[in-house]
Amino acid sequence: MKSPICDMLGIEFPLLAFSHCRDVVAAVSRAGGFGVLGATSHTPESIEQELKWIDDHVDGKPYGLDVLIPENISTAGEKNVTWKSLEARISSEHRAFTRNLLKKYGIELTTTNVADNQPQPFDAQCALEVLDASFRHPIRLIANALGVPPKAMIDMGKQHGVPVAALVGAKEHALRQVAAGVDVLVVQGTEAGGHCGEVSTMVLVPEVIKAIKPIRDVPVLAAGGIMTGRQMAACMAMGAAGVWTGSVWLSRRASCVRSGPMPGIADPTAPVRCRCRCRASSAATPSTRSIAPQHQVMRRRATSSAILSAKGSA
Ligand SMILES: Cc1cc2nc3c(=O)[nH]c(=O)nc-3n(C[C@H](O)[C@H](O)[C@H](O)COP(=O)(O)O)c2cc1C
Repeated sequence: MKSPICDMLGIEFPLLAFSHCRDVVAAVSRAGGFGVLGATSHTPESIEQELKWIDDHVDGKPYGLDVLIPENISTAGEKNVTWKSLEARISSEHRAFTRNLLKKYGIELTTTNVADNQPQPFDAQCALEVLDASFRHPIRLIANALGVPPKAMIDMGKQHGVPVAALVGAKEHALRQVAAGVDVLVVQGTEAGGHCGEVSTMVLVPEVIKAIKPIRDVPVLAAGGIMTGRQMAACMAMGAAGVWTGSVWLSRRASCVRSGPMPGIADPTAPVRCRCRCRASSAATPSTRSIAPQHQVMRRRATSSAILSAKGSA
């Protein structure tokens, strides 16, 4: 299962694992894949600690970092926006609506205490500072979700000789990313946890590959609903250079999600939903009720056990 992405990243097989847990990142990289640490809610100080830990546990194998810099955000242009100042903008009607929605689907409402000066999630300047601090470590890929990465991020990648990846959920997104100069596209179908589009993986991956081919040779990683070696092989048969996985790792033994909430996740309900999805069997409809109904059939058919053996099973 060699592909151009293996040479680009210095890995044995083209399986990328997005996780907020450093343990998962190190375990996947040690096994010959490529772990990518979700760094959305880190500060330059906390990322320093996480990457030092990874360096100590990754046996010199390559790994990457993912940030979330939205191209469009309602607070664009505002300075010093904090969690607390955002909280103050939420109306009581909206709070009641959300509380009722969670209750309706049996999701426990949990709250997190944050410092008064905690910057808003997805703060571009903060993410760039985290990236800057990360380059003190041997990271081999930087990735961004929610739009074209800012020029400063693409320039940072070039300056350090590190490829820049971007998540896309539509052909139009992909074309814009290629024009902006990204090196790897993560083509993420709507089945994905934290998806960014409406099109399914099976449809989107070949559509993007065909659309970008005449423009530039950018390797495509398929994402969304991929849990087994068979699914990985199918994506590569469609022309993908490898796969980028997320939800499957939430139920792994190494994942910190198993033992409680994890600090790196902006949406505290996300891991709970995803764990249900990974563990769901064909008989487990009630436990999957909290996700969009159109995804349930795909999820129920997926098993989470085989991905680590993707190397041999495809
Ligand atoms: C709990 C959770 C949180 C996520 N957070 C991010 C994130 O912060 N940044 C990002 O680029 N992608 C994020 N993703 C999306 C993953 O990078 C990946 O594209 C997706 O999980 C792939 O689909 P799958 O979950 O079906 O494997 C998240 C996914 C999950 C499940």
